[in-house]
Parts: sequence; C-alpha cells; structure tokens
Amino acid sequence: MDHFAIRDGELHAEDVPLSRIAEDVGTPVYVYSRATFERHARVFRAGLDGLEKPPHLAFAVKANPNLAVLRLLANEGYGADVVSGGELARALLAGMPAEDIVFSGVGKTGAELVQGLDAGIGQFNIESGEEGRELAAIAASRGQVARCALRVNPDVDAGTHDKISTGKADNKFGVPIGHAPELFAELSALPGIELRGLAVHIGSQLSDLTPLETAFGKLGEMLVRLRSEGHSITHMDLGGGIGVPYRPGERTPSPAEYGAMVARVTKGWGVTLMFEPGRVIAGNAGVLLTRVIRVKRGLNNPFVIVDAAMNDLARPALYGAYHGFTAVRPTGERMTANIVGPICETGDTFATDRETDALVSGDLAIFRTAGAYGATMASSYNSRGFVAEVMVDGSDYAVVADRILPGSIADAERVPDFLT
Ligand code: LLP
Repeated sequence: MDHFAIRDGELHAEDVPLSRIAEDVGTPVYVYSRATFERHARVFRAGLDGLEKPPHLAFAVKANPNLAVLRLLANEGYGADVVSGGELARALLAGMPAEDIVFSGVGKTGAELVQGLDAGIGQFNIESGEEGRELAAIAASRGQVARCALRVNPDVDAGTHDKISTGKADNKFGVPIGHAPELFAELSALPGIELRGLAVHIGSQLSDLTPLETAFGKLGEMLVRLRSEGHSITHMDLGGGIGVPYRPGERTPSPAEYGAMVARVTKGWGVTLMFEPGRVIAGNAGVLLTRVIRVKRGLNNPFVIVDAAMNDLARPALYGAYHGFTAVRPTGERMTANIVGPICETGDTFATDRETDALVSGDLAIFRTAGAYGATMASSYNSRGFVAEVMVDGSDYAVVADRILPGSIADAERVPDFLT
C-alpha cells in the first residue's frame, strides 16, 4: 500500500497535489512519501515478529541513499547496509549509529576498510579470503578488532533478472559455501578480526520465496558444521531481495510470508539475524513525476515524449523493467502509446505498446515504483542535469535533493593548457 492516490481528479502524494510540486520544483522530479516509507519500514519489522531474537535491520542504502530517506529510516530504528565509502559517509551523515552499519561489497578498497575501522562500524561482510586477510592485517596494525561475517555464495538461482542475480556459483559475490569451513578456520585464527557469522544475498526483486528458503537452509547446515568445528556463531545476515509488485496484479511475497518462512527455517539457530532490505522498503514509496513534452505521431503507435529520460530512471533501459505510468489528471480516455524520453538513443524507451491514460503536450504523469533504484542510478548523460528529489509529509513537502544543473557539472571540467 502506498500514499499516491487520485483525489478530486488529481494524483496526490499524501495530501499534496502533484501539480503543485511540478509547478514549484519543475520536472522531472522524484517524489517520496514519508508515510509510505514509514509504513513499509514498520510492516517489514512486524513481519519478523516471530523470530527467536529481535533482528538487526540494515536498509540497503544503494536502493535510495537520499539523506532524508536515511534519516527517516534511522528514526525507525534501521541501520544501514553500505557498499562503498560514499554510502558509509552518507549513513553516518544521516545520523545512523556506526555500530548499526554493515559494510558489504565484493571490492572494498584498503582505504574503504580503513574508513570502516575509523568509524567503528558494526560489521564487515567479507567476500573473500583475500579481503579477510587484508582487513585482519590493517585492523591488527591499528590495534583494532573488526567484527565480520563471511559472505557465502550458496549456488542458488534466485529466479530473477540475470543482472540482479548474485547467488549463483558464477556470480562474483561471496565465497563458495563449501570453502566456508576452511576459511573460517584460517580467518578466525587471525588477530584483527572476529568472525562471528555468515552472510548471504542471492539477488533482488525475488518473486518467490523458494530460492531464499533453499539458500537459508544451506546456511543453517553450514552453521551446524561450523559450530561442530568449535566456532562461535552469533550473527547470521540473510541479506535483502524481496520483490515488490511493479505490474498491476503482480504477486510478490509479503513481509509476513517472508518472516514466517525465515522463522521456520532459522528455528533453533540461536543467533541474531540481520536483514538488508532495500526495494521492499523504498520501491513503492516514490514516483518519478514528469511532464509530457509532446505527443508525436508515429507510423503505428504515437510516441509520448516525456521530460524524464533513461538518465533519470535507468531501470527500463538497463533491465527492460516495467514501471506503471499514469496521468496526474486522468480524463478517463485511454491511448496505446510508446512512452519515451528525449535522449538520443532508442534505449531511452520506458514502455512500448503501453495502454495508458490519454495524454497531450504539457500534461503531467508519473512512473510508479520509482523509490528504489531510481534517483540513485541517475546520470548526466546527454548533458542533462541530475534529477531533483522531494519528500512529502502530509500536506507539506520539502526538496530533499536540489536539481544539479548541467552547468555545475561542466564546472568540474577543464580544458587543459595544451589545447588552448
Ligand atoms: N544486500 C546486498 C548485499 C545487495 O547486493 C542488495 C542489492 C541488497 C542487500 C538489497 O536488495 P533488495 O532488498 O533491494 O532487493 N539496480 C537493480 C537492483 C540491484 C540490487 C543489488 N543488490 C534494480 O534496479 O533492479
């Protein structure tokens, strides 16, 4: 459930008509609903009520790193799952306590490991023996002990898009689960790190719980084995990955169904479970508001050319992803159209042959389910600026990210002397 609904003939975000935001801030602009974010954060937590111990919830910052979003989630008791020094800095800036931050990622640099140690983060999810040895050496040289989990690759097909699948043996993430006993024995003997558990994340936008259950089952078997070999396991990080409905009628697991499955599979583990949800919290809490530049006649369908483009919302171009598209003031008339942005490549197509609200030049429309992996994946391709972001709170709203104009981007560039 979200708080984007038609009222008096016009789409509102909570109590704010979207046309007001378009007039004040311009388009394209991402619009987030505070109430929706909070609702999702609470529903996800409530889904995990049946666990043996209170879980640790770390929002996957990559899904939406806006500082306002991170502060909102910190207020909801969420920590952060970060995958770069930049995300770590944002989580701290937003007020997330360092001990609630988990640092994931297959290619943390030495400088990023140091940044995590400096901040005193809660856990490093190490993704290789090589990384573990490097972290242990750095931490020991500073007289520190880094708390760690070993991310394993369970070789489970998540059944999602290939580009967002992470748990198959050929994917770059984690260590083959069979290597865990050997690596645990080696790494836990090193000064500088305390290896306290395993981590797993098999992919994103999962529409079926079965692959997750299979992966968690394998984790449970490994937990028993590691304990039998004398290791103390206190934490298990089950990652993120629950899908959200993008298409009308699409069915994805609810947090309650997910939580029930987790409670069943992890019964008796006796550990603190950690979770890294991203999309399920942020996806339906944001829309991308855009204005129709013009409607162009085609040989077949008309082209609805909107002022948002693949640089603002990359998912359709990158993954062929579907985003709901509706008029801000629907008239009841419908059309079948190709919805495209102004960028000079055919990849800048949001939808082909889409039955949608009838639109004319100047009308406003939204792409739905754009709160996760939307603004965060924006670029300035075609020398377009970086899209603005707004958060609505009841009948109020605030600009939470300024539009970065093409001129400021060019300000960071130089023509070298040898060309003058
Ligand atoms: N934890 C780790 C280690 C991850 O790699 C990810 C996502 C998450 C948590 C959060 O997963 P979620 O709960 O959001 O599914 N740009 C793509 C999605 C990439 C996801 C990468 N990893 C998209 O737009 O679909």
